[in-house]
Amino acid sequence: MLNGNLKLAVQKKGRLTDKSLQLLRKCGLDIEEYSERLIVTARNYQLDILFLRDDDIPEYVQDGVADVGIVGQDVVREKKAEIEVLRPLGFGKCRLMIAIPEDKNINSLSELNGKKIATSFPVILREFLEENRISAKVIEISGSVEITPSLGVAEAICDLVSTGNTLKLNKLKKTFTVFESGAALIGNTRLNEDLERSRLLNRLLLRIDSVIQAGNSRYLMMNVPKEKLTDVLQALPSLKSPTIMPLADESMLAVHAVISTDTYWEINENLKSAGASGILLLSIENMIL
Ligand code: PRP
Ligand code: ZN
Repeated sequence: MLNGNLKLAVQKKGRLTDKSLQLLRKCGLDIEEYSERLIVTARNYQLDILFLRDDDIPEYVQDGVADVGIVGQDVVREKKAEIEVLRPLGFGKCRLMIAIPEDKNINSLSELNGKKIATSFPVILREFLEENRISAKVIEISGSVEITPSLGVAEAICDLVSTGNTLKLNKLKKTFTVFESGAALIGNTRLNEDLERSRLLNRLLLRIDSVIQAGNSRYLMMNVPKEKLTDVLQALPSLKSPTIMPLADESMLAVHAVISTDTYWEINENLKSAGASGILLLSIENMIL
């Protein structure tokens, strides 16, 4: 393992595993299909990927076992490890929530007073209860928290909710949100002392940034009658100045622009009513601003 490669920790099995590998592949890294192996080396980059339990990743990064890691902000906050959050990654969005059995009702936080709440996030939950002046008993469980109400161990749970399937399967329902989370890239705070690995990380960060930027952007193409050009340009909040090109039909122009993904549906109708036609929206693989 002392090979000078950058060591990146990824969740071994869970919500973030596939998306983490997808991000790395979009960054051009040739990574072998993951199968029960603990370490995989990229074929075209000096990078070792370590597959670990997500709860352990902050500590491994703190201690330098891994240089960087992809992990939920929930685990980062829970573990209070000495690490640096390098980038939010835009995927793995979920919420840490308090949930109760479907056939029970709780309308206000104060009704949690005196209740038992099972969780694998005792630190965050205790902070939340304290802030809201609730005195409830926190029961620390390392996994399968969702079955504790049916076993009579707790009256409520505090766990991550993404699609909500786990809650539904266990006949639980959401009540309060404790923390909003998403995946982040974290790094060891002393990594800058190692020039070679810092260089490897910086090159990787450049790629990650351009993939994230591309994911948030779309390439928009449309045809516009010459006399409508000003109206159409006004309806267009593009990242940079749009490209305008002549068409074979001399009364028309082609307008191309990069826009942010979120704005497309907002501006689509305005573009049409301003006179644009043949509107195409394409995804972008990679983008450097
Ligand atoms: C979390 C949580 C639930 C599941 C919720 O597990 O503990 O089991 O995700 O997702 P859903 O709402 O889409 O069903 P995680 O992936 O963090 O794995 P872990 O519990 O093994 O750490
Ligand atoms: Zn976990």
